[in-house]
Amino acid sequence: MEKVVFNNPFRPSSGHMPPYLAGRTIETQQFRRILQQSPILKNLIITGLRGVGKTVFLESIKPIGVQEDWLWVGTDMSESASITEENMALRLLTDLSIVTSNMTTVVGEEKGIGFGKGNEPIRRDMNFQFLNALFNVTPGLVSDKLKVVLERVWSEMKSGEKKGIIFAYDEAQNLCDHSEDRQYPLSLLLDVFQSLQRKEIPFMLVLTGLPTLFSELVEARTYTERMFEIITLGRLNSADSREAIQKPIQGCPFPFTEESVSSIAGLSGGYPYFIQFICREVYDIFSQQYLLGHTMSVPFEAIISKLDSEFFAPRWGKATDRQRVLLYVIAQADDDCEFTVQEVTEKSATLLEEPFGSSNANQMIAKLVDMGFVYRNRHGKYMLAVPLLKKYILRQSIVGLKNK
Ligand SMILES: Nc1ncnc2c1ncn2[C@@H]1O[C@H](COP(=O)(O)OP(=O)(O)OP(=O)(O)O)[C@@H](O)[C@H]1O
Ligand SMILES: [Mg+2]
Repeated sequence: MEKVVFNNPFRPSSGHMPPYLAGRTIETQQFRRILQQSPILKNLIITGLRGVGKTVFLESIKPIGVQEDWLWVGTDMSESASITEENMALRLLTDLSIVTSNMTTVVGEEKGIGFGKGNEPIRRDMNFQFLNALFNVTPGLVSDKLKVVLERVWSEMKSGEKKGIIFAYDEAQNLCDHSEDRQYPLSLLLDVFQSLQRKEIPFMLVLTGLPTLFSELVEARTYTERMFEIITLGRLNSADSREAIQKPIQGCPFPFTEESVSSIAGLSGGYPYFIQFICREVYDIFSQQYLLGHTMSVPFEAIISKLDSEFFAPRWGKATDRQRVLLYVIAQADDDCEFTVQEVTEKSATLLEEPFGSSNANQMIAKLVDMGFVYRNRHGKYMLAVPLLKKYILRQSIVGLKNK
């Protein structure tokens, strides 16, 4: 029998580059435009629901920045939920030192040797030790110290070829301030960059995160409303979804039929993670059917239950019965599931034997926000935070409904 040497190319994962990055042309152009600013008036937020492709989009624009002569530094902030201001500063210095350590700076001068020779500048590498030492000897608040270090770096860069530095932080919603511990890492970051940009120093922030990010920034510093441009990544349209499905399997011995491509695109709702997940399953099934010489057909029911058990059920399992009832009421809202507390209480009166009162609904929704089920959008309304969760909820059996 002919051996299949084509490996499953699909990658349902967090942050792994897909075999083909579909769509995102307008968003990439928006990033290119932002790079043209001089001086920098706007920084960038890349936002969207879980699994929509924020991390891989950030990865995909990095080479554009580099090609346009920007230095690029940054990390993933997923582990930084309790970061202090000092840690934030240390993080920035560490990231920065990766690109500055091959630059030098003048730290003094020594007398030239020989008659008539002037003084010679003494130069040091701007490695982490240097940046950290400069930070430590500078008096003042963490933000003052950080500004001095960053300004020093720019003073050594400005006559060079690089246009500036992009500081890119993924999962930036974790940087939120902790007023109870008097720690304001997010405000620190915003203050420092605003001050540098006022001095026309081209250091730019690119923050990536869940839809809560923008409101967290505005809560930390109201001026951030004007400081950022937002790229919202959404679901892929149907043409892009089809490309995400078909391009990776070009040359594969068992091409997906037209019908299966349409069904996968429809079932995924255009959400990149779900496209990868479903395609990976379909590919495995097709490759077996192909090897056995069977006609190829997609068992969508089985794929949906696998998606339910691997993706949704672990999240659903964390909710209490009453929270599930509330989520069910939310899932009954309009198409996008955008809702206010009042709408939820009204709807619950029509659906439930024991409806929610408004203060109770308020508290419970706040809890659902913490749990990552819903988030508050820019218009102050709530929405479901996980793509396709609505359909999943509606598939569940819920206790306490009227007429049941
Ligand atoms: N434009 C795209 N075309 C095809 N696949 C994509 C695209 N964007 C993302 N993916 C795939 O979707 C999945 C999720 O991508 P990614 O991890 O970047 O999402 P995310 O928005 O950062 O998620 P999270 O909020 O969990 O961090 C990955 O498997 C990735 O390969
Ligand atoms: Mg991500």
